[in-house]
Amino acid sequence: MAITPNIRPAAAAIPNMIPQPDSVTPGEGSFTVTAATQVLCAGKQADCAWVAKYFTGLLKRSRGLQLSAGTGEQSGAISLRLSAGMGPEAYRLDIAPGGATVTASTRVGLLYGAVSLWQLLTQNNAAASSIEIAGMHITDAPRFGMRGLMVDSARHFESAKFIKSFIDTMVWHKLNVFHWHLVDDQGWRIEIKKYPKLTKVGAWRTPDEAGLKDIDPATGHPRPYGGFYTQKDVREIVAYAKARGITIIPEIEMPGHATSAIFAYPELGSGTAPIGVETGWGVFPQLYNVDDKTFTFLENVLTEVMGLFPGSYIHIGGDEAIKDYWKSSPKIQAQMKALGIADEKALQGYFTARIEKFLSAHHRRLIGWDEILEGGIPASASITSWRGLDGGIAAARSGHDAVLSPEKPLYFDWRQITGAGEAPGAGRVNMLREVYDFNPSLDALTPEEQRHIVGVQANTWTEYLTQEELVANAVFPRAAALAELAWSAAPKDWDGFMARMPAQYGRYRAMDIPHSEAAMKVKVESRYEAGRGAVTLSNQTSFGEIHYTLDGALPTALSPLYSAPLTVPLPAVVTAAAFREGHILSFPTIARVDLASLYRRDNQDMKFCDGRGAAVLDDAPPSGPRAVFQVNAVHPCWIWEKADLNGVSTITAAVGQVTASRKPGPMLAPSTPDGELEVHLDTCEGERIAVLPLAPAVKNDAITTLQAALAPRAGVHDVCFIFTRSKPDPIWAISWVQLGPPARP
Ligand code: ACM
Repeated sequence: MAITPNIRPAAAAIPNMIPQPDSVTPGEGSFTVTAATQVLCAGKQADCAWVAKYFTGLLKRSRGLQLSAGTGEQSGAISLRLSAGMGPEAYRLDIAPGGATVTASTRVGLLYGAVSLWQLLTQNNAAASSIEIAGMHITDAPRFGMRGLMVDSARHFESAKFIKSFIDTMVWHKLNVFHWHLVDDQGWRIEIKKYPKLTKVGAWRTPDEAGLKDIDPATGHPRPYGGFYTQKDVREIVAYAKARGITIIPEIEMPGHATSAIFAYPELGSGTAPIGVETGWGVFPQLYNVDDKTFTFLENVLTEVMGLFPGSYIHIGGDEAIKDYWKSSPKIQAQMKALGIADEKALQGYFTARIEKFLSAHHRRLIGWDEILEGGIPASASITSWRGLDGGIAAARSGHDAVLSPEKPLYFDWRQITGAGEAPGAGRVNMLREVYDFNPSLDALTPEEQRHIVGVQANTWTEYLTQEELVANAVFPRAAALAELAWSAAPKDWDGFMARMPAQYGRYRAMDIPHSEAAMKVKVESRYEAGRGAVTLSNQTSFGEIHYTLDGALPTALSPLYSAPLTVPLPAVVTAAAFREGHILSFPTIARVDLASLYRRDNQDMKFCDGRGAAVLDDAPPSGPRAVFQVNAVHPCWIWEKADLNGVSTITAAVGQVTASRKPGPMLAPSTPDGELEVHLDTCEGERIAVLPLAPAVKNDAITTLQAALAPRAGVHDVCFIFTRSKPDPIWAISWVQLGPPARP
């Protein structure tokens, strides 16, 4: 579907809906919904009845109101009407004193209209047994035909139950493509009947013993990690998605990112056989070979995949296929020569073309990551552009359809914010505002070329999202900004979007959807200043007004308004939240400010010595509390910027161990067998002012607190923390550091 132009009258009052509808016109009076309100279809149409039931389910779950559904026509009812003449996903919603009417030409249009009505009924969080909505007329249709979210089920496995609930959350955002990353080096996640070893062998990885905590007491060895979806699971998920207007695009990676398959069937490989399903993260050299037998294998796999997924697109990955094994294989080189193929990129082009021919013959369309453009692609192939927009633009110019999915800002595994207490994720940050502000300028393309930009999509890779709740937490609320981008043709209006977001957070809370409130939540930063605490309050988006208390009470809109840094006596408890028009926007932040807190830093509030390859990892020790570490596994080293060392003579550090799954960089040699945490002044090469031996922490799978003397140094300095070690695993990480004694005038 093409992009519609941004021409519309300025909307006077946009209701609290996300994504913003195409057109909202104020109407007469208002309509009130109570438990007695009926939801009526004109007749016994199955699609309408299904939507009616879905709608009543949403309202029950979010507001506790149970409406009954039936057929007929009645004043005061919610009427769902299927009627020809509208676009495939379009709907109309009319609210008037005599009732609410949703009209659409398709089941999915009706569903989107019902979701919009549900949003009108959940515009605030007030508990109510009757909900009044203003009279209005809404007409609505999407900007892009493909509005996608990708979830990586290969790096970490999500249950079928989670996938279904995720699909529901997509419907509430009017997103319609679920791109399912089912294959990678670290796991093959879909049952293929003809090749049982793909899941018997390829779905399980066994982490290295070294440094591993998840030892099965029954065997004394690490527990294998993995899982897969049976064909029955897949059929159920596909049907579940279809009922909700969502097409699933399965991704079967080739020729790289397939160590799992090559380990299961080594004859498919092209270089040194893998020694296991991959346990680390990154790009690995395993590539399929180009034997006819391998293409037969892939075609047989795709035949089963096509049998399960009825959508037209099949994603074949194609990203990050480093060609070392093809370059060093005499057999592959001989095959290239025989085929007249000039280089390895062109060989990937040949690979893609063979698969495309097969898919085309079965009336399916090939889609792959933008790398597939490099080897030349067949005319019908489409791409998902992730390395910026260039791939998408190049594809459109050469007549290929493209989905825009640039990693900045549409990788949702990147964190939403930095700072203590935030969830794990990849080290880089994509803020809610960056997602919202993403507006691909396609002016460089002709209208004909623009028609090839068929959609936008966000991707959620799961290297560091080890649990389902973390996946959801990474996706929401950024999916709301994605939805707005993908659905609404309205001009960008950040303040307007944020004004509608509190209602969306309310829906997430009401529906028990894990989500991040980082955009709204107040951050409390404090430093020591002449015997008092200097406290700064902020939130990421500078949205709303911050109110605070100093007496431990929860703030209200009547509490003192924050306007400039506070100076508080020690100790103090600062409790703060952002408000808008009297309504609280997020959970309050409670911070104790005392001498100890002023001389303490959480690892997430320190700087990486080297940000490349950094991530925020969580740790699941069999005993003790779960900890979240911001760590660069290649170079585990942190800097506390501008630490006040005046009067400081001790250091306490809480340390833990994580399995890093990355190749380590150069390691600093230890001076004791178990290594130590070294503390350096000003830079990591600067004077060593403290050493904390790790011996007491080695056997503890949870957090260990170490203490040592620190050479007194006056003034304010950057302080570097770096671990020495003689082996790559485990990675040691700082949880927090405390300078002492905090005895001050
Ligand atoms: C990708 O991020 N390798 C598509």
